[in-house]
Amino acid sequence: MLLEAIFFSITPCPPTARRLGFLKENISIISRYGRCKNKWLNHLSESKRNIEKAIDKSEGNRRVIVFGAGLGYDLPLKKLLFHFNEVVLVDLVHSLPLRWMALRNPSLKLIVHDVTESLDNIITGNLSVRSPTRFLDDDQTDLVISLNILSQLPILPSVFLEEHLQIKQDDIQKMARTIIECHLDYLSNFSGTVCLITDIEREIFDSSGKLIKRFSALSDVSFPWESQTWIWEIAPLGEESLDYSVRHRVAGIPSLEDAIISK
Ligand SMILES: C[S@@+](CC[C@H](N)C(=O)[O-])C[C@H]1O[C@@H](n2cnc3c(N)ncnc32)[C@H](O)[C@@H]1O
Repeated sequence: MLLEAIFFSITPCPPTARRLGFLKENISIISRYGRCKNKWLNHLSESKRNIEKAIDKSEGNRRVIVFGAGLGYDLPLKKLLFHFNEVVLVDLVHSLPLRWMALRNPSLKLIVHDVTESLDNIITGNLSVRSPTRFLDDDQTDLVISLNILSQLPILPSVFLEEHLQIKQDDIQKMARTIIECHLDYLSNFSGTVCLITDIEREIFDSSGKLIKRFSALSDVSFPWESQTWIWEIAPLGEESLDYSVRHRVAGIPSLEDAIISK
C-alpha cells in the first residue's frame, strides 16, 4: 500500500489520464502482478512469443512502435532493443523502471500519447471518437504492436462517463464500439508489419469453478481473424472477489497482413 502511494505520487501522468484513472490502474497492476505472477505466466509468455514471431516477420529493423506498453510485463524488450534501431513505447503512463531504462538507453523512446486521440473530447462528455492518425506518416516504422490494449481502450472512459457524467449506457456502448473499430482501422493503415495481441472474450466462473457468464471483450465488434488463442487467468478466485474468478481468452496475431480471415 505504501509503495503504491509512493509510485502514485511520483509517476508522471497527464491530468486528463489521471482524472480518468489511468495512473491508478497502472499502479494497481504492479500489485496485482505481484499476487498473480504464476497465474499470469502463460499469458505473458504467449504474448512475448507472438511478438518474437512478429519480429521475424518484420521486413526491416529501423523502428518498432508498441501501443499499450504499460509496465512491459508482456514485452520482450531486450529482443526488441537488440533487433531494432529504435523502440518506441506509447502509453498514457510509463512506469518508473521503464523511464529509468530509457534514460540509460538512447534507442528506447517513451511517448506519452492517447492512442484513441479522443480522451480530451470524452472527458467533457462529448462522445465523438476521432480516427487516430499519429505515426501513420512515419515511413521508418517496420513493426507496430498493439499489445493488450484494444479491449482496454474504452473501459476507463466508460466508467468515467457513467459515474461522473451520468451518460446513458446505450451511448457509452456505442462509443466503446467506435473506439475499438477505430483502433482496428488505424492498425490497418500502417504500411509495416502489424502485430495484434488482445483479449477477445471474458469468462466469469463461480466459486465452485462453474462458468456463469461468457461475453465479448470487444463490445461485440467482430474479430474476423483466425488466430492462436490462450487463457489469461486475470483474476483468480479471491483476487477481485471470493465469489467469482475471471479469465480472458486472448488472441495473438504476429502479422495482420498474413492472418487468415475466418468465413
Ligand atoms: C492491460 S495494459 C497492457 C499490458 C501492458 N503491456 C503491461 O504489461 O502492463 C493496457 C495499457 O493500455 C494503456 N492505455 C489504455 N488506454 C490508452 C490510451 N487511450 N492511450 C494510450 N494508452 C492507453 C494503459 O495505460 C495500460 O498501460
